[in-house]
Order: sequence, then C-alpha cells, then structure tokens
Amino acid sequence: MKEKTQHHVKDLSLAKLGKQRIEWAESSMPVLLNIQKRFTKEKPLAGQTIAACLHVTAETANLAITLKEGGAHVYLCASNPLSTQDDVAASLVQDYGINCFAIKGEDHDTYYQHINTVLNAKPGFTMDDGADLVSIVHTKKKNCLNAILGGTEETTTGVIRLKSMAAERVLQYPIIAVNDAQTKHLFDNRYGTGQSTIDGIIRATNRLLAGSVFVVCGYGWCGRGLAMRARGMGASVIITEVDSIKALEAAMDGFEVMPLLKAAPIGDFFCTVTGDCQVIGKKHFEVMKDGAIVANSGHFNVELDLEVLEKMSSSKRNVKPFVDEYKVASKRIYVLGEGRLINLAAAEGHPASVMDMSFANQSLGLEYMMLHHNELKKDVYPVPQHLDQEIARLKLASMNIHIDELSAAQKKYLSSWDQGT
Ligand code: ADE
Repeated sequence: MKEKTQHHVKDLSLAKLGKQRIEWAESSMPVLLNIQKRFTKEKPLAGQTIAACLHVTAETANLAITLKEGGAHVYLCASNPLSTQDDVAASLVQDYGINCFAIKGEDHDTYYQHINTVLNAKPGFTMDDGADLVSIVHTKKKNCLNAILGGTEETTTGVIRLKSMAAERVLQYPIIAVNDAQTKHLFDNRYGTGQSTIDGIIRATNRLLAGSVFVVCGYGWCGRGLAMRARGMGASVIITEVDSIKALEAAMDGFEVMPLLKAAPIGDFFCTVTGDCQVIGKKHFEVMKDGAIVANSGHFNVELDLEVLEKMSSSKRNVKPFVDEYKVASKRIYVLGEGRLINLAAAEGHPASVMDMSFANQSLGLEYMMLHHNELKKDVYPVPQHLDQEIARLKLASMNIHIDELSAAQKKYLSSWDQGT
C-alpha cells in the first residue's frame, strides 16, 4: 500500500513552481544524478528511515529524491527557519511523495516541532546541517537513540559540535563528517559561500560593492571565498582573524588584516563567517559609520550580537525585505536577514553545481555508514578518501576536463626513497 505523505509546508499550490526549480537545479547536478541512477537500480537504502535536517532548497530536493530512489523513507525538516524555499517544499510533498516539514519564516517553536516530527518517524540514520538533530536526540529525545545506527553532518559548525561531543564521550553513534571531504569544503565553503553570500547581500540591498570597504570576519574556507569574490566586485577588502596562520595567509593573499575594532569605523559592509558567537558587538556598533551594513553568513545567528544592538537602539524598523534599520544615536545601522545565513535568507544558497559535490558526499557517506556502522565507534569519521576522489573524478568528467596519468616510472619514483641528487 502506498504510504500517505506527511507534511507541514506553506502552500501545496506552489508545487508547480517548486518542481521547475528542482529540475533547474538537477540540470547542474550531474554527479548526484549519476549516483541517483545507481541508487534507483540497486536500492542500497531499501527500507531505511532517514531523518534529514537540511536547508530545504531545490538542491536539497534532489538529494532527498536520490535517497528515496535508493529505497529510503525520507523525513525532511529545515536546518534554519529562514532558508526554506516554500515552493520546493510543496513540490517535494506533491510531486515526489517526500515527507517534508518546513516553512520559510517559521518561529522557534515550529522549527523545533518540525525536528521532533522527523525524529518521531524513528529514523535509523540522521542527516544534519548544523547538528540540531543530533543535539535534540542526545538531550530531549534520548528514546530515539535505540533505533539510530549512524548519521552524517554537512557543515563546519556541525562538525565542531560533534567533535566536542565525541571528545566528551557523549556522542552515542558514529557520524560521517561530510564537511571534511575535500570535494565538499574546498568548493562548497569557498566558491559556494563566496558567490551566494555576495548574491544575498546584493539582493537584499542592491548596493554597489565597487569602491566600498568590505570587512570579512574570519578567513576559513568560507571567508577566503567571500573575500576573493568581494575583491572581484571592486571592494577594498579587510580581513579580521583570531588565528595567526589564517591572518598571515590573508595578508599574503593581498588583503589588509587588522583587529575588528580598527576596521569598524572604516567598513561599509561587514560579514561574519567565523562559526563563533558575539563576533560583532557593542564596541564595534558604537564606532561604525552611519549606514553601515552588517550581515552574517556563518551557520547560526549568533555571530552578530543583535540583543545588544537592540538595547543600544532608540528604534528599529524594517526598511525593505531582509533589511532592518537600527537607530543608534544619530546613526543608522542596517542588519540583513535578522543576522541569519544571508546567502540562504535573501538569496537561494549555493549554486547547484557545488551542492552537486556536497550532496554526492552526503549520499555516498550515508551509503558507507549503512554498510559499515557496525565497525565504527561512537566518533566522527571523514568521508573515505576513495569516495572523495571518485566524486572529483565524476565532476571533472561532467565538465569534460581530462587530466594526465602518472607513468609506471613516475609511480615507482614517487614510492622510492633512494633516488636523490
Ligand atoms: N547550503 C548552502 N547552500 C545550500 C543550498 N543551495 N542547498 C542546501 N544547502 C545549502
């Protein structure tokens, strides 16, 4: 008997638009499609229940379809209250029969209700972007632990949380850190965040970046990508860092590096990509210039201290979608997307062609976890190298890029130690 699709989405009549979007994304996801074809034939996930807490976008829809084609029962909820594409959520339910619980702009309680609902499906595996599922399973819904055999995690912030849990020996099942795959962070975090963050800031403000001063807080892979793209748009880019090696790299990449307090009165745009809390706070807001634009592209909405900004402000009003004006004395400070991931709040997230590799890692990582969870400890594991390499090989092939191969003599040379000068 066909199961009834469960859902809590904004409006099922949006499904037609959502399907077009899903198909548009699919056309830039050849690696995931290749995996989907095999999954359709082999059904490696047959009968498994997967709870997935991811940004509900057209790209994620193609991942969910791939998992369903692989034989899984998929229960999807949002990993951020502002990142859901309502038309995509509608189409997932209506056209693809995928259980989906996500509404753009959902409040805190609804966000957690949705997480609870996907966990009530008694998943055998979790798929997280930010580790909210894992966190709830280990705190408020410990009864789920009996059934869960393993999971995957998409993002830097989630992997950091999970590694802390493993270090404190509280993690109760093994997790594959998709973020740590080279075909994930070198591309998604760098080129995906770089482009989509600029896209979000521009869609929200329609301001010119050329000739502006753009301050990037954090020079990890996301910060590197954002700084590179802001420079490409003609901004003078300042990097702020707390890590000496990353700061040195930023300086040698040709960026100005200085403490945030020194950058605060100079910047026209500020964007945090650190993964840490209270990066921009009272002392920075106090010295910013009139009209400064402040955004966050880190996973959680903790990087800008908006509580303190609210206290400092005599008024706050929404001046256009995703732009809130805070009046601080005679100055105006503009905060984008309520301090949430600006690339997903005001734009459409990373383009499909990078999510192609991220979600190929998710699919293969999950398949690996299903086959090997018995051999794994309650710890955080990388995507196996051969899978990472295979994803790169498939991506290159899809781009019609060919590369050289080592000759037998070269292979022998590389494994020798006695041939020197
Ligand atoms: N994270 C960043 N961009 C995304 C996208 N387009 N879909 C899903 N997750 C994302």
